[in-house]
Amino acid sequence: ATHKLLLLAGDGIGPEVMAEVKRVAAWLDQAGLASFAIEEDLVGGCAYDAHGAAISEDAMVRAKAADAVLLGAVGGPKWASVPYEARPEAGLLRLRKDLQLFANLRPAICYPALADASSLKREVVEGLDILIVRELTGGVYFGEPKTIMDLGNGQKRAIDTQVYDTYEIERIAAVAFELARTRRNKVTSSEKHNVMKSGVLWKEVVTALHERAYKDVELEHNLADSLAMQLVRWPKQYDVIVTDNLFGDILSDIAAMLTGSLGMLPSASLGAADPVTGKRAALYEPVHGSAPDIAGKGIANPIAMIGSLAMALRYSFNQGEVADRIDQAIAGVLASGKRTGDIAGPGTETIGTQDMGKAIIAE
Ligand code: NAI
Ligand code: MG
Repeated sequence: ATHKLLLLAGDGIGPEVMAEVKRVAAWLDQAGLASFAIEEDLVGGCAYDAHGAAISEDAMVRAKAADAVLLGAVGGPKWASVPYEARPEAGLLRLRKDLQLFANLRPAICYPALADASSLKREVVEGLDILIVRELTGGVYFGEPKTIMDLGNGQKRAIDTQVYDTYEIERIAAVAFELARTRRNKVTSSEKHNVMKSGVLWKEVVTALHERAYKDVELEHNLADSLAMQLVRWPKQYDVIVTDNLFGDILSDIAAMLTGSLGMLPSASLGAADPVTGKRAALYEPVHGSAPDIAGKGIANPIAMIGSLAMALRYSFNQGEVADRIDQAIAGVLASGKRTGDIAGPGTETIGTQDMGKAIIAE
C-alpha cells in the first residue's frame, strides 16, 4: 500500500532534519521497500507568519486525511510575543487534541557506540531498549476543577484535579500490551495506588484487562517513585512501561537522559483505532525542539527525525522489518565513527546534517 504522509517541518532546524526524512523516504521508495505519497504544510511560527495561526484549517484537514503526520519542531525567539492562542506550540496542541492522540510512545534506546554519552555507566545503559507509553489526554493536566482561588485572608489555594475514567485507562493499557507482544512481552504499569484513588483504579483496570485479554504478556506493577529510582539503577529490567500523563512526563524525561542525546530520540502519539478500518491517527516527531542556536547551519542531528519515520513504518504501516533496517543503519553509521557535532566524541569524524542522512542511506 502507498502510505499518505503529511510532513510538517515547522521552525528552526525542523526543515533541515525533515529534508533528510524526505531523502530517506525517496530512497526507500526507489528501492521498492516502501511507497509514500508525500504532502507538506506549515506548522508553528512559520504558519503564523503565513496565515496568522499556528496551523491552518486546511493543514488540519490534510492531517486528518493522512495515514501519518511527521512533525519537525515548532517555536523560536522570533515568535516570543505573538498572541497566546497563536503561539507556535498551539499548532502541536491542536493536532494532539483534534486527532485525539491519547497514547504517547517514547522509546529510549542506547546505541552501544553512544553508551559513554549517557549520564550513567556504560554497563547500565549499553544496549538499552525500553518503551514508555504515556497517557496524553487525561489526568491532572486536564482534570477539572483547575483553578487558583483567593481565600481572602492573604492566602490563595491552587487546585489541579487528577481524573481518570475506566475507558481511558483501558485504551492506554491495551496499546501497551499490544506493543509488548511485538517486543519482549513484558509490561510494567506504574501509578501510586498507595496514596491516590486514580492509582487504585488504574491498577484495578490494568489488572482486569490483562486477565481478560493479555494473559500471554507478563505484567508487573511498580509505584512511580520506585520506578524512577529503578530507571537510573538498572533500566534494562524493563520492556514497556505504561503510566499516566504526569508520571509519564517525568519518567520519559528521565529515560531520555539515559540515552545521552536529545538529537537521537523519536516519539509517536497515537489515537484510537477506527473500529471499521483499524486505522489510527498518528503523529511522529523528535523529542527535541527547534534548536534556534544551531538552526540554518546544517549541523543538526537528523537521527531523531529519521527515527520518527522508522516509528511510523513500525506502528502505522506494519513494516517493522523496514524500520529495523533503518535502526540498524543508524547503529552502523554511529559504530563507523561518523557523528554530528552534538554526539561527537574522541576519535569520531564530525559530519553535517545532509551527510548524516546520506551516510544512513549508504549503510
Ligand atoms: P531544543 O531541543 O530545541 O534544544 C536544546 C539543546 O539541544 C540546544 O542546545 C540544541 O542546539 C540542542 N539540540 C536539540 N536538537 C538537536 C539536534 N537535532 N541536533 C543537534 N543539537 C540539538 O530545546 P530548547 O532550546 O529548550 O527550545 C528551543 C525552541 O524549541 C523553543 O522555542 C521551544 O519552545 C521549542 N521546543 C519545541 C518542541 C517541539 O516542537 N515539540 C519541543 C521542545 C522545545
Ligand atoms: Mg516534559
